[in-house]
Amino acid sequence: MTVYADNAATTRMSRTALDAMLPAMEENYGNPSSLHHVGQAAAEALLQARQDIAGCLGCTAREIYFTSGGSEADNQALRSAAYAGAKSGKKHLISTAIEHHAILHTLKQLEEEGFSVTLLPEPGFHRFPIFSGGMNDCLTVLCLFFSCIALILLDDQRF
Ligand SMILES: Cc1ncc(COP(=O)(O)O)c(C=O)c1O
Repeated sequence: MTVYADNAATTRMSRTALDAMLPAMEENYGNPSSLHHVGQAAAEALLQARQDIAGCLGCTAREIYFTSGGSEADNQALRSAAYAGAKSGKKHLISTAIEHHAILHTLKQLEEEGFSVTLLPEPGFHRFPIFSGGMNDCLTVLCLFFSCIALILLDDQRF
């Protein structure tokens, strides 16, 4: 018997997700930016997906961004938040030293661009006194992972 214990990294796709995706791949494969009817059908399906996900997450469809994977999502989230914060003078980013490289490399680049970066030695939101103090005035991004597949670690903090 095979026991697969790496579901935090990759997981077998659920039947529901597969059933939703197959029509998109087999029939509704148009470029949603194209004006022809195949593209527009794809654009409608994309909008529906955004609305469905937004409904689950309690946000608006315009707040849902699809990316090609984790690294792109990390980059987009960190940079968007960092640049938005910088507009109001907040240029401090806090994370942990044991984040994924997609986070750490992006933070390094942001540091080179003039942001100040603090890497906490370990996760654990509650263990750090910084959040009660004046650091919040300049804090623009707080990025802490919730679960770590490499260390098999789950932060016990509830947000
Ligand atoms: C936080 C985080 N970012 C990025 C990645 C890499 O994702 P991808 O290979 O889709 O770019 C992972 C993969 O485990 C991850 O855990």
